[in-house]
Amino acid sequence: MEIRFPEGFLWGAATASYQIEGGWNEDGRSPSIWDTFSKIPGNIRHNDTGDVAADHYHRWKEDVALMKNLGLPAYRFSFAWPRILPSGSGSVNSKGLDFYDRLVDELLKADILPFPTLYHWDLPQVLEDRGGWPNRQTAHYFTDYASLLVEHFSDRVSNWITLNEPFVVSMLGYLEGIFAPGISDQTAAAAATHHLLLGHGLAVQAMRSVARQPLQIGITLNLNFTESASKSPEDLEAARLRDAYVNRIFLDPLFYGKYPEEITGKLGFNFPVDYQKDFTTITTPIDFLGVNNYFREVVRYDADAAPFHFQTIQPEGSTYSEMWEFSPHGLYDLLMRLKRDYPVKAIYITENGTSITDGIDADSRVRDSRRIQYLQDYITAVHQAIQKGVPVKGYFVWSLMDNFEWNRGYSRRFGIIYVDYENSQQRILKDSARWYRETIRQNGFKLKTYYTEPFAEA
Ligand code: FCB
Repeated sequence: MEIRFPEGFLWGAATASYQIEGGWNEDGRSPSIWDTFSKIPGNIRHNDTGDVAADHYHRWKEDVALMKNLGLPAYRFSFAWPRILPSGSGSVNSKGLDFYDRLVDELLKADILPFPTLYHWDLPQVLEDRGGWPNRQTAHYFTDYASLLVEHFSDRVSNWITLNEPFVVSMLGYLEGIFAPGISDQTAAAAATHHLLLGHGLAVQAMRSVARQPLQIGITLNLNFTESASKSPEDLEAARLRDAYVNRIFLDPLFYGKYPEEITGKLGFNFPVDYQKDFTTITTPIDFLGVNNYFREVVRYDADAAPFHFQTIQPEGSTYSEMWEFSPHGLYDLLMRLKRDYPVKAIYITENGTSITDGIDADSRVRDSRRIQYLQDYITAVHQAIQKGVPVKGYFVWSLMDNFEWNRGYSRRFGIIYVDYENSQQRILKDSARWYRETIRQNGFKLKTYYTEPFAEA
């Protein structure tokens, strides 16, 4: 069977500043919360840090050449706030801007559409010291930072993403405490959630007002299709709460100007005083929704689970790809649900991919057939959703290259390009990169079987 995408469908690959750049203290960059967090022993597997990462700060030219070699039409990267504004606000570090000037110009020269994200989690530490996202002022600092970048780059860049996965920022960073800044405080998490949304809305308005051309602006959320583990009323309720916690807590304010009642009710989130007044800003229209999706979630009630009485389980018969369940159908269901429940004009899949730790064979090839199978099946799910009328306009694979996978450090490899950290950071196109190049070229593929073993959790 042949899968062909609509003409103009945008193919790309994604990365994020802290995960690939390195050069953590070069040319005036100040520390971000991830520098601080990763340097505390025990926070990151093997105590890895992003100090060097994939050294993209020095290898950007070679990396753009690889993108060109892949025929990549678009590249999603993120700006590092502490490179641009080392004090978080105020005076601009021109060397930081220079780096992204060189990168953007090189991309344009290679006919690759730059698709930047303003914030992919690397808050300047100085701003965390002033209260971080739980501090309302951070929304204003973010707006100033967004305006500055749009003023500078919007002559050349028209597609912009404000935030990447605010759920991870507020819930993993300020409630579950497993990501930077490592805080566990539900009031802080509620305030962070609200100020991220406010910062997004304020930024969208400011960006449009300073733009040098009409912009396409969106926000990227991590969204998972949520199912109940059984038909018991407890499990059904648990799944509903989990869905509110992960998905609706950002979707509902953005599209309907309210928090889900489960969030303010059962889950007990207390938002800052007069928070309702901000919904007119938060609902400022966007041009597209960015969707990051890797897995679905099957949820059951668990009286012992903290901080909330729900737990995601590994359903029997399901298959795994190292970190997460392999569930292409979950992406289809998610997209159908978005179309049903929200007035989304356009969707970009801004991240999807899998970590596989295949090594390099003696002939210098990385035979990552499981990744090819994963990508083919997830991309097919996207295609099915488009056939059913979901307005998906593009797909970005996570990731262009292996990188620092947050609290798992370098132990997880999501790239379609292999990075040999031990061997002068050599880049090697994996088999999946060649497959992706062919997919881009043909705007689709013929369905094949690449991997027949069951996926297993590593
Ligand atoms: C997402 C992040 C991205 C990457 C992938 C695997 O949650 O946005 O930076 O780590 O997961």
